[in-house]
Amino acid sequence: MGGKITIIPTSHKLGSSLNLLGVIIPSSSCIKLIGSFKWFIRSIMEKRQAHSPMEMLREHIKSYLPTILLGLMSLVIVDILQLFIPIVLKDAINFLTQSIPNPNAFLKYPISILGLAVSIAVFRYFWRYFILGQAKAFERDLRSKLYGHTQKLSIGTIESHTTGDIMARFTNDLNAVRMAAGMGLVALVDGTLLGLAALVFMLHINPTLTALCLLPMPFVAVITKVLTSRMGRGFEASQKDFANLTEKVREAISGIRVLKSFSQEEWGAGRIQMAARLYAQTNLSLARHLSFFLPLTAIFTNISLCILLSFGGRQAILGELDAGQFVAFLSYLGILTWPMMAVGWVANLFQKGKAALIRITAILNEEEEEYERKEHLEPPHAQEITIRDLSFSFNGSHFMLFVPELRIPLGKSVAIVGRVASGKSTLLNIIARLIQVPPNRIFYGTLDVTEIPLCHWRRLFGYATQEPIIFSTTIEENISFGRPKKGEEDLKDLLNSSGLTLDKDIQEQPQRFLIELGLNLSGGQRQRVSIARAIYDNPEILILDDALSMVDVKTERHVLQTILSKRKGKTNIIVSHRPSVLMMVDYIYVMDAGQIVEHGKPQELIAKKGYFYSLYLQEKIRG
Ligand SMILES: Nc1ncnc2c1ncn2[C@@H]1O[C@H](COP(=O)(O)OP(=O)(O)O)[C@@H](O)[C@H]1O
Ligand SMILES: [Mg+2]
Repeated sequence: MGGKITIIPTSHKLGSSLNLLGVIIPSSSCIKLIGSFKWFIRSIMEKRQAHSPMEMLREHIKSYLPTILLGLMSLVIVDILQLFIPIVLKDAINFLTQSIPNPNAFLKYPISILGLAVSIAVFRYFWRYFILGQAKAFERDLRSKLYGHTQKLSIGTIESHTTGDIMARFTNDLNAVRMAAGMGLVALVDGTLLGLAALVFMLHINPTLTALCLLPMPFVAVITKVLTSRMGRGFEASQKDFANLTEKVREAISGIRVLKSFSQEEWGAGRIQMAARLYAQTNLSLARHLSFFLPLTAIFTNISLCILLSFGGRQAILGELDAGQFVAFLSYLGILTWPMMAVGWVANLFQKGKAALIRITAILNEEEEEYERKEHLEPPHAQEITIRDLSFSFNGSHFMLFVPELRIPLGKSVAIVGRVASGKSTLLNIIARLIQVPPNRIFYGTLDVTEIPLCHWRRLFGYATQEPIIFSTTIEENISFGRPKKGEEDLKDLLNSSGLTLDKDIQEQPQRFLIELGLNLSGGQRQRVSIARAIYDNPEILILDDALSMVDVKTERHVLQTILSKRKGKTNIIVSHRPSVLMMVDYIYVMDAGQIVEHGKPQELIAKKGYFYSLYLQEKIRG
């Protein structure tokens, strides 16, 4: 009768080929695991410091302790219930072999198994809900923290990273942290508990047989060590190749217009193909290692099954082991499968999670701009902005800005002219404090601007640049930019001031939706949307940095005239590469190679027939 019964112990599908895998893995993965664990403990003990990976872990554990404990409790219950299954099987087999079979009395065994299975399913749901839920929450909290922080970084800091690098921290790295905090924790607790318990039960049944069955492990250990380290390297290479492929695709999509206009679609596709081929090759080599790994380990893990059958079977025949114990042993050997795999897996998850958390904290530790201060110092009324002894250069650039003295009278219109790369935009960025300079260089009246919190300082400004940034939303939203909406008349007036009423479709459809980068507008239209955004709440100081370079001279003159006449009494700082349109401002500074080479009223500069005059003449000749 016993011969007819097919027993599939829990987890035995994988069990036969891999059931000893993890005990084996220790030499390769346990070291890693112990390393990660030591790091965890050391970091828990370490002194609290701003944004250390452990500080974040500690904070998370503190806020989610009840959830984590509930999850772990459910996990432990599942493990205990699972360990009961072989005991029921053992009793069932013994019942079949020893007593006179009574079909009704035997029913209690399948019912017990069913009860265990349902309870396991319920508690498994709970641990997934609690443990994976807290891991998701950890990811969410870190993501919001990271996002909030990157918003407060200075432009210089942001520019020191590539977009891809920052995006990778928001995606891959956060994913790795979530996996470590969720499945890593599960694998660690579950694997350790189940593994130890299964071993204890096996030793309890028969220590000699347990020792014999664990004999093939050293061989599998060597195979695992060699292949997992190769696979680890392969996995990293595959991630890199994937990032490279993504970047190539991103470039090809965002640069599709250029590719098409040069008829170079094939060149673009070739770059993607090359990256894709590289990615495929890396993955194939990874798959090759994996295809060796499983069969090779399967040989040795099946050897333990052979040992069990030959020695355990013999002992069973000789009556040293009863049939129930034999089956229970087989089941525990099956249960061991998962812990064995877990050891290797958990080491990997923790290592990746740790590396990712370190990368995330590296960004969190980048210094924020001091945007707000407690004292809330509002800038007092002032007559002028003064720059004194300012020198500035970019890292790794030969360009040098040097301004011994420059005065911008407030309430007036000032223009800055000069050749391309003479330093106009850099100077304006410094004035708006988008680029930070040391104290005692820029003064607002008599007050050093670095004394004024950035939030107050930047609120004084409206800024439109040569390269407008358009968001994929309506034209109106692009203009109002989160500020209270204007009534129809005011909006019309604004569109008129920024020259947008010259375009019928924009005037009639301010609700028109703009696609990514505003590519469904012309360059000049995008620039005027950006100007409308800058003058929306009539800022104290308006900066137009060559913000009309893509419109014709007539439109530029019209827009500037309208803006200047409407903003009488406010400060306007205007850069234009067309000196003729600047004749309407109060004062002009002329720059060359990072220095102010001339300044004065427009007519004075024309009469002087100096550098400004030569730029003016060049424009006339160009037409
Ligand atoms: N972020 C930057 N990093 C390094 N060099 C820069 C950066 N921005 C501008 N520069 C350099 O500074 C110089 C002045 O640039 P800019 O102020 O933009 O000139 P302009 O506005 O007069 O055309 C140029 O030589 C440019 O290459
Ligand atoms: Mg510029």
